[in-house]
Order: sequence, then structure tokens, then C-alpha cells
Amino acid sequence: MIAFLLKVWGLARPYRVRLFVGVVAGIFSGLMMTVLIATIMFVYGAIFPTSPDSAGQAQLPMQNLPVFLQHWFLAARQALESGVKAHPWTLALLVAAVPLIMLLRGVLTYLNGYCLQWVASRTVADLRVKLFAHLMNLSAGFYNESASGQLISRVINDTGTLLVILNSCATIIVRDPVALVSVLAFLLWQQPKLTLITTVVLPLCMLPIVIFRRKIRRSARELQSRSAELSQTMTEAFTGHRIVKAYNLENIVVDDFHTLVRNYVGHYMRIVRAQIIPGPLMEFFGACGVSLLLGYLVVFRPEGHLNPTAFLQMILSVFAIYAPLKNLNMVQNWVVQARAASERVFDLLDTQSSVPEPAAPKMLHADQADIIFENVDFDYGEKPVLRNINFTVKAGSLVALVGATGSGKTTVTNLLLRFYDPVRGSITIGGVDLRDVRTRDLRNQIAVVTQETVLFNDTVRRNIELGRPGATNEEIIAAARNAHAYDFIMEKPKGFDWVIGERGMNLSGGQRQRLAIARAVLRNAPILLLDEATSSLDTETERAVQAALDELMKGRTTICIAHRLSTILHADMIVVLDQGRIRETGRHEELVKRGGIYQKLYELQFAS
Ligand SMILES: Nc1ncnc2c1ncn2[C@@H]1O[C@H](COP(=O)(O)OP(=O)(O)OP(=O)(O)O)[C@@H](O)[C@H]1O
Ligand SMILES: [Mg+2]
Repeated sequence: MIAFLLKVWGLARPYRVRLFVGVVAGIFSGLMMTVLIATIMFVYGAIFPTSPDSAGQAQLPMQNLPVFLQHWFLAARQALESGVKAHPWTLALLVAAVPLIMLLRGVLTYLNGYCLQWVASRTVADLRVKLFAHLMNLSAGFYNESASGQLISRVINDTGTLLVILNSCATIIVRDPVALVSVLAFLLWQQPKLTLITTVVLPLCMLPIVIFRRKIRRSARELQSRSAELSQTMTEAFTGHRIVKAYNLENIVVDDFHTLVRNYVGHYMRIVRAQIIPGPLMEFFGACGVSLLLGYLVVFRPEGHLNPTAFLQMILSVFAIYAPLKNLNMVQNWVVQARAASERVFDLLDTQSSVPEPAAPKMLHADQADIIFENVDFDYGEKPVLRNINFTVKAGSLVALVGATGSGKTTVTNLLLRFYDPVRGSITIGGVDLRDVRTRDLRNQIAVVTQETVLFNDTVRRNIELGRPGATNEEIIAAARNAHAYDFIMEKPKGFDWVIGERGMNLSGGQRQRLAIARAVLRNAPILLLDEATSSLDTETERAVQAALDELMKGRTTICIAHRLSTILHADMIVVLDQGRIRETGRHEELVKRGGIYQKLYELQFAS
């Protein structure tokens, strides 16, 4: 609990001035409760003097008051007895006292609520940004294990729950404990015996708090994971809507969603129950306190018994104590919920990237540098993927990776981009191990066309420009021409300003691929990674794009993956992968002569 509060405080630190103002206003608005009770009794005592014949201080309801107030009190009482004319101002103040205090309390409560909610909103907004930034810096390995819908839910729902709860607590969390303690202290000072009798049942009120706390914690956790599952289901259904429609899966998806929602409501109602039950229970205990008091008064008839001022004081006290107690029970429930929600957030924030940045980064000059894979092994979790990979890509040369599907070709490029680190062995560029270079530096020097084209729901121009943010319009157009994308772009309604839809949904597969190539062209990096870059193009377009790519490869170090061997016949070296191991390396002619895996592949493709 303490650790949790410290974490929240760490986030709210930048806003400590408002936090301070809010807390101070809360403290004073809490104290106002005692002032209010005192004033009501004061006014009551003045209007209905208990023993009118004696103006002695001992009969005053607040015999312990400061002297000036006692004087004022006496003046007020005299004013009432001798007609209004004698002390008009005193009387006016007497009448206006209660609303004035209420007004003051209202202003303080506003300040308290406003400042604290201001701080809470900013804090949670910061937390969202921090979380998102953190997620952006996590490695590829992390994303393999996390569903995007779940992550979205953490950034939006979990922090959102935290915000709602912090805001609900804002006016209560400072004011009510102060009110509780101050009223109790005031009463003990005034009427120690009667107060003790009335509040003897107070500890019982803690019972529901303790009982329901654990239930709430469990349900609160469930609630957050259910809402993550909900957004997961939606993300998948929306992004996969074509398959959902094509396979008539609408009903199944809706049923899944329905089950999740029902489950969600179940946990929600458990929290509602746990939140509502303690309130009436406490009221019941409070009423028991009042009847204990009555019983005491009736049975023991203490001296000056049934003094109406004293009795009024006790009834007021019951309300004044049990109301904040009830609120504090709510706060306690909220805090449990807030903790459940924020634990998930803090867990994510504590996740370390599996490709840590080097403490003392080295400079990387990929231009004119050899890329060397040395004894590299790699596993995805338990699954062995690459074993004993050794090869060198000479500076400025073209190396092709060939092999059956699943043989580990894309994985090789993932390692070069340092999406993952090898389990054993090392990858160096110009003699510098990738683990000693800032990932930013490394990736700045690589242009990549991935196997699955990744495009964003933005204009054509912006999608190409992402290759080198800040590139000029001319450069973007030149890159598009190079990738043979210019013509089809110009056919679109707004040309380069046309929005391509989510993941380029409004483009054909081949068009998407050419945009990805244009992006890589624009990047103008010394290392080029092409993973099936032209696989979606028809033979004619492929030939044209290939010519452009050949042009692009000049002077760059290129690793090219292709199933269609026609595109790599002229490679400086061909590496044949099979089940994560290198089986053959050499130029095309050598490999064909050798009569191994490559020769078989070649014959299969060119037999026709
Ligand atoms: N993120 C991942 N988590 C676990 N296993 C993975 C992951 N990505 C790939 N694999 C597995 O690693 C192996 C190599 O995959 P890789 O993508 O490198 O193959 P590939 O040679 O590029 O195949 P293809 O020609 O079909 O693209 C495969 O068995 C695949 O199932
Ligand atoms: Mg692949």
C-alpha cells in the first residue's frame, strides 16, 4: 500500500503546489464540520438558554471556549433577553453564522475538489504518455507476447479507471478523515462520557470494511482483465473484418463478446454490492450508538440529565462521525480498485526491454563495413530457430538468403535489425557488435522492406516520407518513381495526398509493396534488407522494380530474401538455409553445379 502511494506521489510531484493547496483546503473544509457543530450548539444555546436565571459560565454549552467568545455569547444571550435593539449586530451574526460557515465550507470544498482533480487529471495524463512511450521502446520480443488490444486497454482503461477513482476520492480523502478526527476530539473534550457511549460501536463499523476489501480486490482485478479482453476482441474483429465476413463469423464473434460483457457485469456487480452494503450497516451501527445513549440517559439519569443542548450535540455527533466514516469506506474500496488497475500499469512500466541499450555505446559506420554473423544461435523462447549461423556480407555486396518457408530467413534479418539478440554468437558490422550500438544508430543505417508490408492510415506522401522524415517533396516523388509507384499514385483521387486506409486497405497488394519499396529507397541507408520485396508483383512490374532495386543496391550492402530465384541469380553470394542451419553457400553457378538443395530448388522453378 505504501509503495503504491509512493508511486502515485512520484507521478504527482510536478504538480505539488496545487496538490498542497488542495490538501490544505481539504483539511480546513474538514475542520469546518466541527466548527459547524459547535456553532449550531452555540446558537441553540443562546436562543434556548438552559438555565436563564444564571449567566454563569458553567452552564454554557461550551464552557471551555476562549474568553472573547464567551463574552460574545453572553452578549448574544442578553440581546435575546432584552430585545433586539440592544445588540443588533451580535444578533445578526448569530442568525447568519450557520449559512456563513456553510458558505465557507463550500468554497473550501470547491478548492479542495478542483485542485486535487486538476492534479489527478494531469497525473493520469502523464502516466498515459509515460506508458505509451515506454511501450514504444520495448523490444519486438515483448510484442510477440502481448496482444495489441490488451495493450490499448492498459493505456486507456486501466489509467482511465485510475482517473475516475482519483477524482471520486478527491473531495473525500482529505476532508473526511480530518472531519472525523476533529469532531471526535471536540466531542470527547465536551462530553467525554456520552461520546464514549455513543461511539462504543464504532469499531464494529470497521468490520464490513475488512470483510469486503478482499472481495473487491479480486473482482477489481478481474474487471480490468475483462475489459482488456473486450478491447482485444474488438481490435481483432475490426481489423480482421474481411475474414469475419468471408467466413460468416459474425455470430461467433458477437457471442464471444456477449459472454465477455456478461462476465464483466458479473464482476462489476460484485464490486457494487461490496460498495453498497457497508453503508447501511454503518448507519445501523450508528443508530445502535444513539439508542445506547438514550438507554444510558434513561437508566442512569446522570446529573442535569436530558440537557437538550447536550442531547442535540450527541445526535449531531452521530451524523458527523458516521457520514465521513461511510465515505471513508468508499474511499477504501476505491483505493483497492485503483490499486488493481494501476498494478497492471506499473507492471508494464517495470517491463524491461529484452534488447537493452549499451551503457557505453560505440559509433557505428555501416558504410563500407562488412556484416559478419559468427556462430549465431537463436531461439524464440523455447523453440530453436537458428543454429551455428556463420557468414559474411562483404561491404557493398549482395547476399541472398534462400530456403524453404520457416527455415529462418526473416529471423536472420530480425537479428540484424536487433529486434532480438542472438542466444549465442555475435553479429558485427565493421567489427562493432550490435549490442554495443544504440538501436537508433543501428536502425538509422538500415533500409528495410519487410515481408508483410506495414503502412499507416495516412496519405501516400506521409507513408513514403516515414522512410526519412523531413524529406522534400521532390525526393518523395523521385522515390515513388524509382519504386514504379508514381503512376498508380497519380491515378488516385488526390495523388500523393490520398489517404490509403488502415494498413493500406485501399490499395492492392502489389501497390502496397511498391510504397514500401519507395519508403526504403527514400531512406538512402548504407544497408538494405529486402524480404520478399517484390513477391506480390506481376512478372513485368517485378522486372521493372527489380531494375530499380538493382540500381539502389549499387554501393550498398544488401541482404535479399527471395523465393523466386530469378531475382537473385546475380547475387555475390547465396546462402541456403534449411531448418535454421546454413547448408550451402556460393554463387549461383557453383551451387547449381554442386547438385545440393539449391540445385533442386532451381530445377523445380525453372523446369517449366
Ligand atoms: N515471433 C515468433 N515467435 C515464435 N516463433 C517464431 C516467431 N517468428 C517466427 N517463428 C518461427 O521461427 C521459424 C523461422 O521463421 P522465419 O520467419 O524466420 O522463417 P522464414 O524463413 O522467413 O519463412 P518464410 O519463407 O515463410 O517467410 C519458423 O518455424 C517460425 O514458426
Ligand atoms: Mg520470412
